[in-house]
Amino acid sequence: MQVPWSDVLKVGDTEIDTQHEELFRRVNLLLKMTDTICLTKCVIPLFRHTREHFSHEEEVMRRIQYPDILPHIIAHNHLLKRLNELAVSIANETFVKNDWQTFFHAWLINHIESSDRPLLGYINTHALPLDHIMPAHTYGGGFLNDSTTPYGARR
Ligand SMILES: [Fe+2]
Repeated sequence: MQVPWSDVLKVGDTEIDTQHEELFRRVNLLLKMTDTICLTKCVIPLFRHTREHFSHEEEVMRRIQYPDILPHIIAHNHLLKRLNELAVSIANETFVKNDWQTFFHAWLINHIESSDRPLLGYINTHALPLDHIMPAHTYGGGFLNDSTTPYGARR
C-alpha cells in the first residue's frame, strides 16, 4: 500500500510542496522494499530529508514569529522520534510493514492538513512575503551534514 502524493495536498508554497512531494517519494520507496539492506538504505536518507524539511519549516516559523510554533515543533520532534523507532525496528529486523504503512498514511496526511496548512494560511492571512524572508541557502544547500542520522546518533 503506497501513500500517493496528490496536488490537493499542496499547501501553496512551492518550496514546502516540493519537499513534501519528495517526502512522499522517499516513504513510498521505503515501503516497496522487502529486505533489511534495502530498507536501511532507504530509511537513512528519509530521516535526513525529514529533518532538513522540518528545519526549513521551523526556520520559516521563527522568522515570522508564528504563534503556534511550539506545538508544531513538538509534532516534528514526535515524528522524528517515530522515524528513529522505524530505523531501530529495521536494524533489529522487527519491522512490520503494515504498521508503518498505517503510520505514514496518518502522519503525512494529518500533519500536512492539521499543522502545515494552517501555517501557510497564517502566512497568507498576514500577507507575509515568504520568498523574501527565506534565505536562499536554507534548503538543499547542505546545512545539514552527514552527521545527522537516525538511531539518535548526532556525532
Ligand atoms: Fe510541519
